[in-house]
Amino acid sequence: MSIKTRKIGIIGAGNVGSHLALQFAVQGLADEVVFYDTNMDKAIGESLDLLDAVSYQPHHFEAYAGTMDDMKDADILINASGKPRKQGQNRLDMMDGAIATSKEFLPLIQKSGFDGIIISISNPCDIIAEYLQYKLDWPKKKIIGSGTALDSARLQMQLSTQLKVNRRSLTAYLLGEHGDSSMIPWSHVKVAGKPIDELLKEKPELYHMDSKEEILKKVHEEGNIENAKKGCTEFGVSSATAELVRAIYHDEHKILPCSVYLDGEYGIHDSFASVPVKVGKDGVEDIIELHLTDEENEELQRSIKILKEHFERALT
Ligand code: LAC
Repeated sequence: MSIKTRKIGIIGAGNVGSHLALQFAVQGLADEVVFYDTNMDKAIGESLDLLDAVSYQPHHFEAYAGTMDDMKDADILINASGKPRKQGQNRLDMMDGAIATSKEFLPLIQKSGFDGIIISISNPCDIIAEYLQYKLDWPKKKIIGSGTALDSARLQMQLSTQLKVNRRSLTAYLLGEHGDSSMIPWSHVKVAGKPIDELLKEKPELYHMDSKEEILKKVHEEGNIENAKKGCTEFGVSSATAELVRAIYHDEHKILPCSVYLDGEYGIHDSFASVPVKVGKDGVEDIIELHLTDEENEELQRSIKILKEHFERALT
């Protein structure tokens, strides 16, 4: 029996898809990437550019443009389709376009016989992940939206900069929508396991930060600022997605905030949203339920309401 190499299909060879493939090459996370894009030239161009990089990377790597049929034996399929957000658009405003794009490639996935894990990045992330799951009737543990893995990195960046504590010493997640309604369960934000409120109270001269409202606002605005200044966002979301891929390939049982199907967890039924998830080789291994304060729970439920309303509309 020959050893199986690690193969990933990426739908969409745009800013996110191509940077994701570079992450795989640089980090040695995959051996082979197939790009599918309706713009075949873009997929070929990105593949060739990636191949140029291989001589100077520590890992061997193959990349090529292909059809969805070339992805049928991939381990993971990543949906990075869609265009960058326009000025003034929020992620939910992108829903109609993203649903239309999904309708184009959904039958191709069905026909291909692919049966691995799907990671969906395209915005609105939770809605599109749920739409794919629903239309494909995909096993719920095998489909994950990148969700607030990115928002949480932005929160960690704010906290780390303001508190002057390394990000890896923090536990800090956002829950809910990947977007403007995501919320921070502050009662679970910790520094080396110590609740942040305790730390701020005990050593205000050493540890201080903006108000919680201000920090949430900054986290929400980060993507808009990047979009306005560079026309897209790509490095953050591709790094967050690479982290999910690493957790899957290495069966890390790693807890990551990402968007998954909720079946009663957090009192949420039948909706995709981000919560802390244990990720391993079979996808979603467990959903960690944090005990939220009443106020935090209200904020989370507000976010879910927005997602549910949009998902209903997506199906019409
Ligand atoms: C962002 C996009 C990926 O937040 O939604 O940067």
